Amino acid sequence: MLKEGYQKYIPFQQINLPDRTWPNHTITQAPTWVSVDLRDGNQALIDPMNLEEKLDFFKLLVDVGFKEIEIGFPSASETEYEICRALIERNLIPDDVTIQVLVQAREHLIRRTFEAIHGAKNVIVHFYNSTSTVQRKVVFHTDMQGVTDIAVNAAELIRKLTEQEIAATGMNIRYEYSPESFSGTEMDNAVYICEKVLDALGATAENPTILNLPNTVEMCTANTYADQIEYFIRHLPGRERAIISIHPHNDRGTGVAATELAMLAGAERVEGTLFGNGERTGNVDIVTLALNMYSQGVDPKLDFHDIRHVREVYERCTHMQVPPRWPYGGDLVFTAFSGSHQDAINKGFAYMQEHDNEYWEMPYLPIDPADIGREYEPIIRINSQSGKGGAAFVMHHTFGFDLPKEMHGEFGAMVQKACDESGRELLPKEMLAIFRREYLEIDRPYQLKSYRLYEENAGSSVDVPRVHFEGNIRFGDADHFVNATGNGPIDAFFKALAQAGVTGYTFVNYREHAISRGSDSKGVSYIHLRDEHGRDFFGVGIDGNISLASIKGILCAINRSCRAETKA
Ligand code: KIV
Ligand code: ZN
Repeated sequence: MLKEGYQKYIPFQQINLPDRTWPNHTITQAPTWVSVDLRDGNQALIDPMNLEEKLDFFKLLVDVGFKEIEIGFPSASETEYEICRALIERNLIPDDVTIQVLVQAREHLIRRTFEAIHGAKNVIVHFYNSTSTVQRKVVFHTDMQGVTDIAVNAAELIRKLTEQEIAATGMNIRYEYSPESFSGTEMDNAVYICEKVLDALGATAENPTILNLPNTVEMCTANTYADQIEYFIRHLPGRERAIISIHPHNDRGTGVAATELAMLAGAERVEGTLFGNGERTGNVDIVTLALNMYSQGVDPKLDFHDIRHVREVYERCTHMQVPPRWPYGGDLVFTAFSGSHQDAINKGFAYMQEHDNEYWEMPYLPIDPADIGREYEPIIRINSQSGKGGAAFVMHHTFGFDLPKEMHGEFGAMVQKACDESGRELLPKEMLAIFRREYLEIDRPYQLKSYRLYEENAGSSVDVPRVHFEGNIRFGDADHFVNATGNGPIDAFFKALAQAGVTGYTFVNYREHAISRGSDSKGVSYIHLRDEHGRDFFGVGIDGNISLASIKGILCAINRSCRAETKA
């Protein structure tokens, strides 16, 4: 007597293929991609797409580059029939695109399907019946010969109707047969029925039939599906009469892996959907497959340069949502929260820039987000887990402030504190607000009320130019007029400050760069000072005049040191 639980499940039958070759292969070229969004994907929606949605989705698939698109199941309902007619009669199918229609291996449905496709230029008639051990036993109560007869009868009818249609209209009609639940069928039986179907259709090497081998319900590990594909191909008599297609679902969450391994095993054609919509846990996700290939330096022959648009149309038409962590398309997939990841990405970007690197060598980001139109997203987001580099990265990449390394720790700590206090992620604009408050809006106790800066011996070919600073510095209620000359603006200003009694600071370092927003180009200066107790203070100044930006930065650092003193 079985206990309830895992004991009631029968382990999947392994394939006897000790000399399998697929593990030694590599994916080097794109398969023929087939979108089944408008059929398998659509069948799985709570509210199937209406005509307008299907037409919009079809246009998207064409734009992305699909050359074979399963548009529906026209014999299944009036709506499906009308959609097929609309595509044909409104001339919406480009000449280089083949539409595919699905039909069960049943006479009246096949006849109706031929009515639906009339007038189309290129069509694949895709017929199927279920062949799996369990379906034969519990659904059809028939043996292998029974299901083979169903498939062969359908094939003969389809061949006859096709030959009539070609003779009458010159349409280009190709055949596809799916032994539905292929992966749940004994492999020798799958080979047997497919051979009989090829014979019935008159398939030849010149005019091959598509044999589609669905993983209708994913019940085994990906390597076993690959074994099945390799076994099938090896044992199929007249293999050259067939194009081997696969149609993986994702019940175990390994649809992508199963597809990739099945391609290694010889699959030439892949049916799937965008973002993996489809029955139960979905069909295999073609976006992921294609971009996985892209990330290996292989041209996937599908264009996802604007993945946001692809996602927008997908979500609008299907009323489904791409989850935030979905490969390539999800909101969070080009985002790093962890500090060490952020630091590494930060360094990666710097390295790529410094070395003008031809190749993408970037920790934690398998592809360049910019390649799929995501370059403007905040690549790094900040929460209380984030490290000092993350906040600096956002300031640089979102707002153009390239903080010197020595400042990263101080600014990172301010941001982290704000995260801890709010208990949530901090948005870039909130980081900018902290930066403004802490560095740009500090004008107490010292305020620069007016200034003049000029070179004393400008134009002289003999003397090294000396810079003169004069201006009014307000401290408390009093204005101090100061003026001094130095080797450069910073030196002159330090000397002038001393006249106002501001002493005890050593200049440690500075960094400056231009920061531009359109035509409004300014200079930003980061100043690092040390007080007489050895404490470090940073200041930031922004101005159209880079020398004045440094002067403002010095005053900012001094004001911040005074503030620290007051707080202490
Ligand atoms: O999953 C499946 O087996 C199918 C067939 C009809 C091809 O969708
Ligand atoms: Zn399917």
